[in-house]
Amino acid sequence: MQTLQDKVAIITGGGTGIGKAACLDFARNGAHVVVIGNVEADAKQTAGEVRALGREGVAMVADVTDAGEMRNIAAKVIEKFGRIDILVTSAGVMGDRTFLVNTTDEGWCKTMDVNLNGTFYCVKAVLPQMMEQKSGRIITISSISGKLPAAMNADYSASKHAVIGMTKALAIELGLLGLNGITANSVCPGSVDTPMISEITEHMRGLTGEDPEMFIQERIASKNLQQRLLEPEEIAGMITYLASDIARGITGQAINVCAGTVLF
Ligand SMILES: NC(=O)c1ccc[n+]([C@@H]2O[C@H](COP(=O)([O-])OP(=O)(O)OC[C@H]3O[C@@H](n4cnc5c(N)ncnc54)[C@H](O)[C@@H]3O)[C@@H](O)[C@H]2O)c1
Repeated sequence: MQTLQDKVAIITGGGTGIGKAACLDFARNGAHVVVIGNVEADAKQTAGEVRALGREGVAMVADVTDAGEMRNIAAKVIEKFGRIDILVTSAGVMGDRTFLVNTTDEGWCKTMDVNLNGTFYCVKAVLPQMMEQKSGRIITISSISGKLPAAMNADYSASKHAVIGMTKALAIELGLLGLNGITANSVCPGSVDTPMISEITEHMRGLTGEDPEMFIQERIASKNLQQRLLEPEEIAGMITYLASDIARGITGQAINVCAGTVLF
């Protein structure tokens, strides 16, 4: 019997990076995975890799900022599998990466829309089913930026703080409702070697001309105790743990996986 044997999981942002690593780790641990992404080729690629691991892998192309699409996806998953056991919200964008005074209104709203509103729409779409089942795992992907703000990061940092606040409030509500079989937690990654980090380094090269390798080593990796970028699989390991039965007593937490960048 594997850790997530026959569990049905929905993972947003599952086409790349942390979301993809979670999809594959879930499949290795026995789960069926619905991969949500806004880039069809990436979502399909991950779903194929899930199937190659012997589990059901279904790609659904959708934009998490569309609440109606998220409700449709939940309905389709229930129709196909009869249940939803786990939601992981990994879809996210890096934000404007500029000083707040220069952050555009559109940039601010886009960051909030994907990182915060998108997370809310996904959580809200799956909750009724989990409440009916009286079981489920909600795992939102925040960031250490959700605990420790930084310059040129106001929109992203605000969105990730809000994701933690929303997740903790939900955990409190689940407790009040006596729904102890459903947990809600955030995972807060440090700097992880994914397409988002490449995007950030390219953006910084555009602004300051800094060499990406130097930028990663001097401005990102040096911020943690181990002087390195994390691998997406390290974040996936925590996500799988939180999704498992043994983690049933962990709820309302925002857990850092950050090589010691943040110590609270
Ligand atoms: N990489 C890091 O250092 C790091 C650190 C802390 C937190 N995070 C968070 O981890 C999560 C995953 O990021 P990642 O590092 O794997 O980067 P990534 O860019 O590989 O993953 C983000 C995914 O979200 C998808 N996406 C973006 N907008 C979407 C939308 N509107 N609808 C549906 N899908 C959408 C993208 O297509 C992509 O697959 C994000 O929420 C990010 O903020 C990343």
